[in-house]
Amino acid sequence: MLNDRMRATLRQMPKAELHIHIEGSLEPELIFDLAQRNGVTLAYSSVEALRQAYAFTDLQSFLDIYYAGASVLLKEQDFYDMTAAYLARAAADQVRHAEIFFDPQTHTARGVPFDTVINGIWRACQDSPVSASLIMCFLRHLSEEEAIATLEEALPHRDKFIGVGLDSSERGHPPEKFARVYERCRQLGLHLVAHAGEEGPPAYIETALDLLNVERIDHGVRCLEDPELTRRLARERIALTVCPLSNVKLRVFGDMGQHNLLQLLEHGLVATVNSDDPAYFGGYINANFEAVFDALPLTQAHAQQLARNSFAAAFLDPEARRRHLDEVDAYFAALA
Ligand code: ADE
Ligand code: ZN
Repeated sequence: MLNDRMRATLRQMPKAELHIHIEGSLEPELIFDLAQRNGVTLAYSSVEALRQAYAFTDLQSFLDIYYAGASVLLKEQDFYDMTAAYLARAAADQVRHAEIFFDPQTHTARGVPFDTVINGIWRACQDSPVSASLIMCFLRHLSEEEAIATLEEALPHRDKFIGVGLDSSERGHPPEKFARVYERCRQLGLHLVAHAGEEGPPAYIETALDLLNVERIDHGVRCLEDPELTRRLARERIALTVCPLSNVKLRVFGDMGQHNLLQLLEHGLVATVNSDDPAYFGGYINANFEAVFDALPLTQAHAQQLARNSFAAAFLDPEARRRHLDEVDAYFAALA
């Protein structure tokens, strides 16, 4: 059980968020506002009716609604407003640094220009007091040729994003499908991450490391099914961006009491806590911390470890990383 002191500690501690899909921060109220602003007709009659539809059984059942929600985003200002709203929530949760995923193909497929998407998101990041970087994701249910075409479209904006990721339907779309486009991204000096081992098997984590050369694994919670892989992730200090509320909503775990976050930490893994798609899964980063600390016997030492891991795993320059880690340590020292 989470007591008031631990809740306050979690809420106030400085942290980084490394796994947030910006389209997954689109709250039902903003979906309806944007639908009205843009003259888009939704399949739901009200905010409440839309929320009622957020009863997911697996990743695909979520993705179908998530892509429908994103259909209201048409203008640069829409992307700006969505991103500004997320960053304001993140600041309230004491997020000092966010590495934000965006899915350009979800929008370009509907005829929204790539420039509109990235310029709106990027401008909101520039205007925020939270340090924010962008990671462009390829949709893995689409072809590698389409990913390569998206990368080409992105290149004029090379200075606006720091890396690439791989998301959408995991099963049946192994990392190796994207080996060539990741090699190209590596040559361009981009950071590399990929979703793996969320619904997909531990073998996908291994191929993401060996064939895509990723630096972090998004989710990765199924690694514990493979002891050798678990040892490797610990030894190589490959961070996992874990999303507790997402994992329960998408039934990766039956309930929060069954979540393996504590076991991941006990295996020496660089696990972090993140929100994934906060508007759909019941809360932002602090809600994720509170839910998992409420359900598992996690301590203040684990909280400090998780806050430190978030900055250790971030794509920050050494001086900024040091500054953030010092802030975390000073925060916990003052609690003692
Ligand atoms: N896109 C948005 N959220 C996702 C998730 N949890 N897994 C895969 N793709 C996603
Ligand atoms: Zn995700």
